[in-house]
Amino acid sequence: MIVTERPTRNLSLDLLRSTEAAALAAARWVGLGNKNDGDQAAVDAMRLLLGTIPMRARVVIGEGEKDKAPMLYNGEELGTGEGPETELAVDPIEGTRLVAHGRPGAISVIAAAEKGGLFNPGPGFYAAKLVVGSEAREAINLAASPEENLRSIAKALGKRVRELTVFVLDKPRHARLIDQIRHAGARVSLHTDGDVAGALAAVLPDTGIDVLMGTGGTPEGVIAAVAVKALGGGMQMRLDPQSEEERWALVNTEYNTQRVYTLEELCPAEDTHFAATGITDGQFLRGVRYRDHHAITHSLVIRGHTGTLRYIESHHRLEKLRAISGELY
Ligand code: FBP
Repeated sequence: MIVTERPTRNLSLDLLRSTEAAALAAARWVGLGNKNDGDQAAVDAMRLLLGTIPMRARVVIGEGEKDKAPMLYNGEELGTGEGPETELAVDPIEGTRLVAHGRPGAISVIAAAEKGGLFNPGPGFYAAKLVVGSEAREAINLAASPEENLRSIAKALGKRVRELTVFVLDKPRHARLIDQIRHAGARVSLHTDGDVAGALAAVLPDTGIDVLMGTGGTPEGVIAAVAVKALGGGMQMRLDPQSEEERWALVNTEYNTQRVYTLEELCPAEDTHFAATGITDGQFLRGVRYRDHHAITHSLVIRGHTGTLRYIESHHRLEKLRAISGELY
C-alpha cells in the first residue's frame, strides 16, 4: 500500500462541538420572542468550547467590532494558543429572528481556514450571491440576468427552467428579482432569513433547492463559500450596499460594486473546516430535540482538504452537561 499523505487531525470535528454547544444554548430561546439573549447564550457557549481547542485562532468574520458587539468580535483570539494559525468565521446563530419566532431554518455555524484563506469583506455588509451545486458550477454568471442564469443552470442540471427551485430571502429589495425568476418560469422558495442555510441547500443534494439568488450579509457569504468550495459547488458574489452610508464606506477602497468575486477569491484556502448544527428544523438539518433527559443535535461537518461530508447525530445527557457547565444548556 502506498500512502502519499498521512491522515492529519480534522479540526472540523473539534469545531463541531462549538456549534453543538451554541445550538443547545440557543435552543432554550426558540420561540421566546427574544433575539438578543438567545444570541448571547449561543455566543457564550461557542466561545467556551472554542477556548478548549489546540489552535491559535483569530476571528476574522465575527459579530462586528469589539465595541459594537460584546460578542465573538473581529480580531478576538481563541484556542489554547498552541497548534496551527487559523482564521475563523463564526455565526453562533444564523437566523436570530428565526430562533426568536420559532421558525424553521436556524443553524449555528463556523468555518475555519489557514491564515489569509478567507475573503475580507471590509466595509461591505451586503452582497448579491449566486450559488449552485457541483453539476451547475460552470453555468453561473452574476453579471448576466437571472433569466440567463436560470436557463444555463437548467441545461447543466438536465432540467427545464420550470423544474428549478430558487431560494430567495423574502425582503422588499428582492421584489424585482422575484418577478424576474417567476417570469423566467422557475419556482421561488421564500425565506425570511438564513442564506447560509440557503447556500448549503443549493449545494447539497435532495434538499429541493437548486439555486440561491439574492442579496444577504457579506460575512454570511464568506462562511457559505467555505462549504460551497469544499463540496465542489459554484458561487459568485458582488458587493451590493443597502444604504448610502455603506455605499460611501466603499468609496476610495479596494472594493467596488461592479466586481464579481469568484469562489476562489472568496475562499482561497484548500485546507478548510466547516461545521453547522441545526437549531430549528431545516431543509438538511433537524433542530435540537429533547427526549428522556437527553438533547439530540443534528450537524454536518465538512473538511475542504478531503471533501468529506459527515452528518452527525449527538445525544447529550443534560444532567451531566449541566453539572459541568451550569445552566448554559
Ligand atoms: P442574523 O441571524 O445574523 O440576524 O442573519 C440572518 C440573515 O437572514 C442572514 O442569513 C442574511 O445574510 C442576512 O440576515 C440578511 O440581512 P437583512 O435581514 O438585514 O436583510
